[in-house]
Amino acid sequence: MTIRSTTVAVVGAGPAGLVLAHLLRRAGLDVTVHERLTRSALEGAARAGVLEHRVVEYLRRLGLADRLTAEGERHGRCEISCLGEEVTVDYGALSGGARHWVYPQQLLVRDLVDRYLADGGTIAFGSPVEAVVPDAAGRPVLRTPDGELRAAYAVGCDGAHGVVAAAFPDGAEGPGRRYPYDWLTVLARIDRPVAAVRYAVHADGFAGMMPRTADVGRFYLEVPAGERLEGWDADRIRAALVHRLGLGGAAPVPGELLETGVLRMRGRVARRMRHGRLLLAGDAAHTVTPSGAKGLNSAVADAADLAGALPAALDGDDGALDGYQRRRLEAAWRTQEFSDRLLDLLHLPAGLPPEQREFALRLRLERIRRIAAPGPEGAAFARDYAGAGELAGPGVWPPAQRSAVASRTTAR
Ligand code: PHB
Repeated sequence: MTIRSTTVAVVGAGPAGLVLAHLLRRAGLDVTVHERLTRSALEGAARAGVLEHRVVEYLRRLGLADRLTAEGERHGRCEISCLGEEVTVDYGALSGGARHWVYPQQLLVRDLVDRYLADGGTIAFGSPVEAVVPDAAGRPVLRTPDGELRAAYAVGCDGAHGVVAAAFPDGAEGPGRRYPYDWLTVLARIDRPVAAVRYAVHADGFAGMMPRTADVGRFYLEVPAGERLEGWDADRIRAALVHRLGLGGAAPVPGELLETGVLRMRGRVARRMRHGRLLLAGDAAHTVTPSGAKGLNSAVADAADLAGALPAALDGDDGALDGYQRRRLEAAWRTQEFSDRLLDLLHLPAGLPPEQREFALRLRLERIRRIAAPGPEGAAFARDYAGAGELAGPGVWPPAQRSAVASRTTAR
């Protein structure tokens, strides 16, 4: 059997794994990346597409956002309809200038892969890590199709139910919530671009329309928890979207449905993101619903933070990885709270009798108007929504700290 060794084994080449791997290699560390999917499957999976201001600023500083900023679009408004009223939230203005970038996740992944390989890194595609076990000294050993990989640290960027979390004594369990509804998810051709994220708070259930590319949009429909796709043919899906979202006129209309699914809506935060020499980042540590578009963004933020903590730990700073865990668990809870609060606004309470729906909708309209209005509440929502401010991590540190990390040349 082949035995290889590395300083940091990164499991999963999604946004978290790739950003982390880039930064660690730039810090002079020896990094080995394993990805379960083949390269074409990885780069073909349609996922998120709305990036926070601070995430893109961070990637831009690292020189990892050239195509994103050349081809992506900036969005600073969303629309929320309720009881026939359409409220525009100008969160770009309310936040003092923070706007989203719209760029499909799979294109970002493609760009990060291209650049990583061009910089001399390697990624083992189609090579799932089967298990992570400790050696006699407590160092992680990864069982891979290419044999054993021994590492000083292993980082799970491998999504919910990842193999690194499975090696935690408690499986990285933590509090979670199963929401009383699901979202039917649709990727559809559209006859014109989605100019702004649109949310419909509707007596029949929530619906959403999100931008992706000029001729493809992402749509969501609230359905009862546990709903199966079988009852929803293309015509029924299109009719429900048009009805709840009030589409037509100047708004795009969904045409051919390219992909449909049902997303089981849940939130979860692990109790720990670190167990000894095992670390978690992104969905491996926390699952957030799509509401607010925070999943991809918080994964990159985890990676940025860890990319500072890992070199510090290798330099003997014992507290660095606990600091990572503490900061990022706090951030994960802030993210959950934001996503949960937006879900609460967008959905009527479960089991509400029809005669009470107008009252609940009218209350929601009040909340929508408040977040759209200038003032502290609108500003706070806008800053959280757009991801105002800066990510913490190498690349934004003061120059002295940055050059200390950049001058590292040896792996240990
Ligand atoms: C999405 O782009 O899929 C998206 C955007 C904003 C949301 C939810 C989902 O609030």
